[in-house]
Amino acid sequence: MHKTQVENSLKNVIYPGLDKDIHSLQAIDLIEIDGKRLMISLTLSNESVFKAIEEQIDHLFNDSFDQIDVRFIARKKQSTHYGSTAKPNNRAPYAKNIIAVTSGKGGVGKSTVSVNLSVSLAQLGYKVGLLDADVYGPNTPRMLGVNDEKLQWNNQDKMIPSENYGIKLMSVGLTTPKSDTPLVWRSSVAVSALIQFLEDVAWGELDFLVIDMPPGTGDIQLTMAQELPISTSVIVTTPQMISTDDVSRAVMMFKDIGVSIGGVVENMSFFIAPDTGVHYEIFGHGGGEMIASKYDIPFLGSIPLTMPIRETSDAGRPAVATDDRVQKGYYRNITNNLLLQMGIL
Ligand SMILES: Nc1ncnc2c1ncn2[C@@H]1O[C@H](COP(=O)(O)OP(=O)(O)OP(=O)(O)O)[C@@H](O)[C@H]1O
Ligand SMILES: [Mg+2]
Repeated sequence: MHKTQVENSLKNVIYPGLDKDIHSLQAIDLIEIDGKRLMISLTLSNESVFKAIEEQIDHLFNDSFDQIDVRFIARKKQSTHYGSTAKPNNRAPYAKNIIAVTSGKGGVGKSTVSVNLSVSLAQLGYKVGLLDADVYGPNTPRMLGVNDEKLQWNNQDKMIPSENYGIKLMSVGLTTPKSDTPLVWRSSVAVSALIQFLEDVAWGELDFLVIDMPPGTGDIQLTMAQELPISTSVIVTTPQMISTDDVSRAVMMFKDIGVSIGGVVENMSFFIAPDTGVHYEIFGHGGGEMIASKYDIPFLGSIPLTMPIRETSDAGRPAVATDDRVQKGYYRNITNNLLLQMGIL
């Protein structure tokens, strides 16, 4: 008997209590034939059905094989008992590297950095997915010009991520009827939605999964660190935050929970007047570097406050996807420095 014959015969093995067979339930993990020995691995979550299924399989194949081994692999349960940050689960085994973009504070440019970092990585030829973990203020769909798209499902019941500028995007903003529909969710619901985005989205194989974190140092940051082996993180700050505790909180949180910090990005470092091109260091100078040295973490680069960054971002076109070499340069430099820190370049 051949493997395909075995596979076809398994369509006759009915899952107890359901009128579906184990083939259509996609429970078959592996079929191996070694002479007169047949090995089958199945992934099923309910132990109580193992015996009945094994009996059906024995019955089906005992004329054709001398030895039949059926192995059951427990399906990972979707529970609210999350992993530990020291030894996190991996809900995104399809991603080779996971980068979390965070900061202690809102409005400092996390999403803009996440979007431009993702697109830069795609421009270098990597396969990139961007997960918008900002459930309450999802603005990445607008920044990538896909805010009018509605969520689609494929025939394996997986959500299809939106795509633009060579990256895949999943965001709560794509699931709501209108992009400004407010979500009133408890944080446990928000966390479950994000877990679903990790597990039930057709991401495909990814070189990088970039996570745009919501502001703060709360449940979502913690859960992501428990549920994903985050490769590295990027802390976004603005110069005036130096005098506040916000950046410190973000840095300390990640250090405490054991997430590696790839470096600090100083956003809105200085203002370039669009008419004269004169630089104004409104918020002082060198803050990001100071933070980096204070906490002994790398400095990845600074991005000035410019009109084109704001305008392109609002227009759904990330700066790195424009022809403006100057604006592109800021993000590309940061992307390169991060890849160097990660030991990839
Ligand atoms: N370097 C920059 N120059 C000009 N505008 C910028 C720059 N960085 C970000 N912005 C603008 O500032 C606003 C806030 O940025 P962004 O949404 O990226 O911040 P955030 O940290 O993700 O905010 P939130 O905490 O709300 O998620 C946006 O309108 C964005 O276009
Ligand atoms: Mg944001």
